[in-house]
Amino acid sequence: MQRNRRFRRTESLLRLFTETEVPVRSLVPAYFIVEGTGVRREVPEGSGLVQLSLDVLREEGKRAKDGGAEAVMLFAVPDHKGVHEATRADSLACRAVRALEGLELTRMADVCLCSYTPDGHCGVWQDGTHGRHGGVDNDASVALLAQVAVRLADAGAEMVCPSDMMDGRIAAIRAALDDAHMGETLVMSYAAKMASAFYGPFRHAAESAPQHGDRRGYQMNPANAREALREIETDLQEGADLIMMKPALTNLDLIAEVRRRWNVPLIAYQVSGEYAMVHEAARAGRIDRTRARNETLVSIRRAGADLVVTYFAPEFW
Ligand code: PBG
Repeated sequence: MQRNRRFRRTESLLRLFTETEVPVRSLVPAYFIVEGTGVRREVPEGSGLVQLSLDVLREEGKRAKDGGAEAVMLFAVPDHKGVHEATRADSLACRAVRALEGLELTRMADVCLCSYTPDGHCGVWQDGTHGRHGGVDNDASVALLAQVAVRLADAGAEMVCPSDMMDGRIAAIRAALDDAHMGETLVMSYAAKMASAFYGPFRHAAESAPQHGDRRGYQMNPANAREALREIETDLQEGADLIMMKPALTNLDLIAEVRRRWNVPLIAYQVSGEYAMVHEAARAGRIDRTRARNETLVSIRRAGADLVVTYFAPEFW
């Protein structure tokens, strides 16, 4: 008789035949950077998402590196809105990249306008340009995003990470980096980013909730798998080095599919709402936090993600 339970008889056998691991280096923390000094505040209170000032970021970066991390994801939350804040060489995002200089951590710098536009959209709004849901001017936004990417690369970011979902931005960013002699900068595309309900806590922490409308004119319909693969194909053709799938848990099928189809590194983003589901359910005493956390992470890795951006990461160091 085939007895699969033979493998589960002892702790040692269970460990010995574990197929999927979650090494610390595969976990990428995301930090929300604000102006000031000595700032570390949870936003919203109790959510587990923290805003840090630059000095605290550096301390966190050291702690992460000492704990085995290799990369961090950076989101700037500037005091002053306005897209031209984003394109400055001394933008808060650029200063965050510089604050981590010399730590031998890979700096993954978010490239988006949503923390800068007055209305919280990921690009610049133009009435009537994109049907009922949109209104974000694609090409004007792409031109700005390419400038932002060059600034961040120039500040020292090893990886620029456009998360805006405009068309053609990977090609534009790649060309702008080449023109600026920064062709060695990695471009990680948020290739398939769904218009998800699971970004809620992030929008508080990043102060980027859209003031009107929603993001369905540029982020993807969560019902669409073929379209997600097309987005990825386009971004790889345009010159993306790596691909992001987001959210993670609601897209495990796509993570597995991408892993089968393409031989590029694949990153999954366990987004703020996914984190919140575990965090809040555990706070309510409904589930065991550590076990639930580890189970989500190992599932995302098992589906095929190389790296996972996750708010749980600092708990591993
Ligand atoms: C913005 C951006 C968002 C996230 C990452 N980059 C929010 C959004 O698209 O509304 C969400 C991440 C999270 O929820 O943790 N470009």
